[in-house]
Formats: sequence, structure tokens, C-alpha cells
Amino acid sequence: MSDKPYSLKNTESGAEFELQRRTGTVGPSVLDISSLYGKQGVFTYDLGFGSTAGCSSAITYIDGEQGVLMYRGYPIEQLAEQSTFIEVAFLLLYGELPTESELNAFDESIRTHTMLHESFLRFFNGFHHDAHPMAMVSGVVACMSAFYHDTTDIQDSADRDVFSHRIMAKIPTIAAAAYKHSLGQPFVYPKNELDYCSNLLNMFFSVPAQSGSYEVDPVSAEALNLLFVLHADHEQNCSTSTVRLAGSSGTNPYSAISAGISALWGPAHGGANEAVINMLEEIGNAKNINKYIARAKDKNDSFRLMGFGHRVYKNHDPRATIIRQMCHRVLEKLDQGEDTPLFELALELEQIALKDSYFIEKNLYPNVDFYSGIIYQALGIPKAMFTVMFAIARTVGWAAQWREMVRDPESRIGRPRQLYIGRAQRDYQPIADR
Ligand code: CMC
Repeated sequence: MSDKPYSLKNTESGAEFELQRRTGTVGPSVLDISSLYGKQGVFTYDLGFGSTAGCSSAITYIDGEQGVLMYRGYPIEQLAEQSTFIEVAFLLLYGELPTESELNAFDESIRTHTMLHESFLRFFNGFHHDAHPMAMVSGVVACMSAFYHDTTDIQDSADRDVFSHRIMAKIPTIAAAAYKHSLGQPFVYPKNELDYCSNLLNMFFSVPAQSGSYEVDPVSAEALNLLFVLHADHEQNCSTSTVRLAGSSGTNPYSAISAGISALWGPAHGGANEAVINMLEEIGNAKNINKYIARAKDKNDSFRLMGFGHRVYKNHDPRATIIRQMCHRVLEKLDQGEDTPLFELALELEQIALKDSYFIEKNLYPNVDFYSGIIYQALGIPKAMFTVMFAIARTVGWAAQWREMVRDPESRIGRPRQLYIGRAQRDYQPIADR
């Protein structure tokens, strides 16, 4: 990993000093600044971590300029075309594509860890029916450590495996329980004979009183599988960094994942898929697009074009390209030729924004969330559940990143410093003198 050092000069003292440069497989090298404070007595300052690598990782690679995304070296386009979410999950967790027997064993393990402890289900009764599902899901995932504390020795590789399989297998069951609670319907138990996405759809949409009334539509399951592949991991984004930071203290992994779910919820991150549909509904009609584009460009207006822009992608988000194609196919098949006004509106909005100098100059392109909500909506999933769907898929990425961090001998507790801008030392004043 080491490369030739990088020389810097302190212009005040004239002293030169060296920082170690480290080079990865592909992508920019990094300067190891861990000795900077000790040598020079200064911290670095990088709001939003735009120039900071927080770890070394062998899981996911993004080239934002070229619009490239790879899991373990495999381009996302190839995985989207040829793989399944279960296979991708194995790849992310274990580093290689599975053999047939490895895949079967992994699939079997996930299918047989889907049930929740019955007492666990009682948590949902404590929530008001209109609680946001992300609030329920992040809350109950944190509670998993109270149920599965027998296998949270983070130094034990078997425990780490059990945790990874459990969280991945149970997160759809938890999501479905949150959804059923919001409807006031009875919870539907998982069915081990169904594949991951079909099982999820069945738990969401079947109703115990109407036996046989719901059959999983293979097009829906396929669409969900693709969305999950695309959302499975995304390098050191806000929620993944949150999982790593929380996990770096040695806390149990369920708590770390719960922290990640909370971070994902925000509209600048995973909450954007819900915000996009809200925005499209508010725009309502193509004739209003220019008004909203003007608002997005107005510095004095807090409105942003949701589903547009990305910290890393400055050319295109490859996931958005794949989802846009999927939208055409899914809407055609699921809506059987009916009008799809929100999709039409989204396509028109994209075309207008992409020709606008503001969006061109700032490299703002549709991101993964611009179109994902349209597919979720076509599958019958309500808006409030969109970010939960993102969380289900990303759980495997969080687990993979957490496992990598725990095993990395260089890992330390995450503990950033600050530029202090408060008052310098002063003396306490008795209340009568203030
Ligand atoms: N609409 C209008 N202007 C925008 C937008 C937008 N969606 N995104 C960025 N800008 C402008 C922003 O005002 C700023 O302008 P200026 O330089 O004049 O101040 C410039 O572009 C750079 O924006 P930034 O906020 O400094 O960029 P960032 O890298 O910190 O933020 C972002 C990235 C994704 C948070 C932001 O583009 C955004 O808020 N987009 C809308 C929310 C969204 O779609 N989020 C989903 C991200 S993809 C899913 C995921 O992986 O989380």
C-alpha cells in the first residue's frame, strides 16, 4: 500500500515535512495525515469529508467522474443484469462470488433466519399507527441486541456471521411488521419457501383472512431484486460512515446498524426517494416544471430538485441509468399500458434540468433516488416505506462494511477533532453578578 512520500512546506517556519502516501488498487491515492498534528500541531479541516478517506476498504469502488460503481471489482451493470440480490449479498459479505453450493447454503441460511422472536413483535404495538416506518424500524433494530445478545462477540467470526445472516434475513420481516402495523392489519409470517424479494412482497401484501388472495407477481419480485442489487452498498456514504463510526467504539452491531438506518432517513440521503415523489406530486403538471426549476436555482429558496445531484457522481449515477430503463419495463408490465403520469413528469423534468446551464455547470444529474420511488409506487409500496426499502437493501452493505472494519488491524475508535470557535477561558461569575 505504501508509495513515495508527499512533501509539504510550512510557509511560516520554512520547515519541510513528509506525509506518507498510500495507493489503492484504482482511484486516487491518499495522504496519511495521522502524524500531522504530532509533527505540526495543526488539524485538517474538511467539512462533509469531501477530501477525506475515513478508512481503507476492499468492498465498493466509485469513480464519480466516469460514473463507475463496482462491488468487489464487478461493474454494477453486470451485476444488475446477471446476478441476484442474494448472490450480491454473499459477494459483499465474503469478497467473492459464491460457488453453487456456497450460494445454496447462504440462501438457505437467510431463508431460515427470517422469523422474529414473538416478544419482539410486541414492540410494534407500542407505536402509534401513524408513526413513520423509519422510526419504527430504526427503533426495533436497536432492540435486536436485547434478543440476540448471545452472538454479539464482535471478535468472534462465527458470531459475526450469525449477526450478518440474522440482520439481513430479519430486516424485511421487521419492515413488513412496521407496514402492517401502520395499516392496522395482522402481521404476516415469513415463508421460507419464497425467495428473498417474493417473501418480502408476500409479508407486505398478503392478508391472513384472505387465504390465497395474494400471489407474488414475478415482475414485482424481479424489479425489487434489481433495486436491492443497486442499493446494496455505496462506499463510505453518510449512513455507512455512521455504522462504521458507531461500530468503532465496539458497540454491538445491531446498534451500529440502527444508527445507520437513522442516518439514512434524511432527505439528503435515503429519504430522497420519498421526497422525489412528494416533489413530483407537488409539481403536478409539466407546465409547472419551469417554475420549480427556477425555485431550485434561486439561492434564497431552500427548495432543491430532489433526486438530483450527488457528492461523488459528477457525470452520471450509473444506478439511475439502470433504474430509468427498469421503470419503462416495470411500468409497462405492471400498469398494463395505463398512464404513468409521474414517470412522464419525471422524464420531462430530467430533460429540462439536463439542458439548464445551472445544472450543467454544477454537474447535477439524476441520482438513484430520482426514479426508484416511481418503481416502488408501481409495486404498491406506499411513500413512507420507500426509505425502509432502501434500508433493507443497504443493510447487507452496512454489515459488510462493519465486518471489514472490525477485522481491520488498523481500526481505531472514530474520534474527529474540531476548530474551536467558542469563548477562550474566562472566570465563573456568581449569579448575582451576571
Ligand atoms: N437542486 C438544486 N441545486 C442543487 C442540488 C439540487 N438537488 N444539489 C446541489 N445543488 C447545488 C447547491 O445549491 C450548490 O450550489 P452552490 O455551489 O451555488 O452553493 C451546489 O449544487 C453543490 O451542492 P452541495 O449541497 O454543496 O453538494 P453536496 O455534495 O454537499 O450535496 C446532495 C449532495 C446529494 C446532498 C445534494 O445534491 C442534494 O441535496 N440533492 C438532493 C437530495 C438527493 O437527491 N439526495 C439523494 C442522494 S443519492 C442517494 C444516496 O446515496 O444517498
